[in-house]
Amino acid sequence: MAVSKEQVEEALKGVLEPEIRRPLVELGLVGDPINAWGGKLVVPIGVIADPLPYEDALRASVLPVLERAQLASKVDIELRGVSDTELKRLRNFLRPATDAEARTVANPIGHEQGRSNQFMEVGSKTRVLGISSGKGGVGKSSTTVNLAIALAKKGHEVGILDADVYGFSVPKMLGISRSPLLVEDLMIPPVAYGVRCISIGFFVSDETPVIWRGPMLHKALEQFLVDVYWGDLDFLLLDMPPGTGDVALSMGQYLPKSEVLVVTTPQPAAQRVAQRSAYAAKQLKLPLRGVIENMSWFLGDDGKKYLLFGEGGGKVLADELGIPLLAQIPLVPEIRSGGDDGVPITASQPSSEISKAYDALASAVETLGPARVYRSELKVKG
Ligand SMILES: Nc1ncnc2c1ncn2[C@@H]1O[C@H](COP(=O)(O)OP(=O)(O)OP(=O)(O)O)[C@@H](O)[C@H]1O
Ligand SMILES: [Mg+2]
Repeated sequence: MAVSKEQVEEALKGVLEPEIRRPLVELGLVGDPINAWGGKLVVPIGVIADPLPYEDALRASVLPVLERAQLASKVDIELRGVSDTELKRLRNFLRPATDAEARTVANPIGHEQGRSNQFMEVGSKTRVLGISSGKGGVGKSSTTVNLAIALAKKGHEVGILDADVYGFSVPKMLGISRSPLLVEDLMIPPVAYGVRCISIGFFVSDETPVIWRGPMLHKALEQFLVDVYWGDLDFLLLDMPPGTGDVALSMGQYLPKSEVLVVTTPQPAAQRVAQRSAYAAKQLKLPLRGVIENMSWFLGDDGKKYLLFGEGGGKVLADELGIPLLAQIPLVPEIRSGGDDGVPITASQPSSEISKAYDALASAVETLGPARVYRSELKVKG
């Protein structure tokens, strides 16, 4: 008997488009099945780019499900680029015209109006976490990437916005080397290890320095929030640049619900510099939620903990700010090599001690719960 489209849709209803991360069926990407000669079933699947850069991931998520459904003795899928009309329909499905983009928001730098984004919405469930430090090289990006993966492993929908426009490093750390696909004017963030990511690094080559003044930088960050299809995120992590400059200002404006996590190394000097970003957050009225001490010790082959960068800085900073010390992450060569190779340690060695430390950090972030201050003005409509 011929297999119907309904049967195929029923079988595939839970399968997500790998980067849009919504069910293929819901997106209208499952075509009419072809009942071929010899009992073979071929299912056409619409793709938003042809060739699709993540074709293997798509096949790997669809084929086994179809095979398990035992609709036919042999099954295959056929990828077909969607038509312009289908793309338009998809775009309107992903971002209905009544959305936040239509509204505007005051721009803190220029006098033009900026555009508001989904994370500003009153009902947004997304927790926005700015990973910052006044100091460079303390491990903000490594923490962002590994915490994001740890949160994704717990079943959360997670995105990273690489806000370090001048010194972007997240694409390399996640091993992503291509630009986002487009659904008309909507950018679809590439996904690695279950984490969506947008970075200026997707649009410029590694060697090209980004030399921008504040307004341009602001515009880029605005685009990353408004013109990107982020989906329904539980967490948006911002990998902040070192220091307390324009990016923090823009973020304060565009992501008024951001919570701030401060990364520091254990020596007192680092902790004092990290404190600056904490004061900046206070000025922007962003809630400081916790301190992450990175490179806390090195565990030698002799089993001894070597305190290469001193000790106690994280705790001192946390006490001064009146917030918890959420984690102490040791110095391990695999964090650096994982970052350099595009395979973070939380993905390559998920049951290692260090991955467990990031898992514990993710749990601590969950336990903190969303900051309440910004909710005080909200009223439940009766
Ligand atoms: N716990 C750790 N153990 C070993 N290496 C680490 C650790 N944390 C970070 N590193 C390495 O230290 C270097 C700096 O880390 P990272 O890029 O994460 O810092 P950053 O604060 O984001 O720097 P920047 O201020 O330049 O953005 C990287 O090479 C990274 O792999
Ligand atoms: Mg960085």
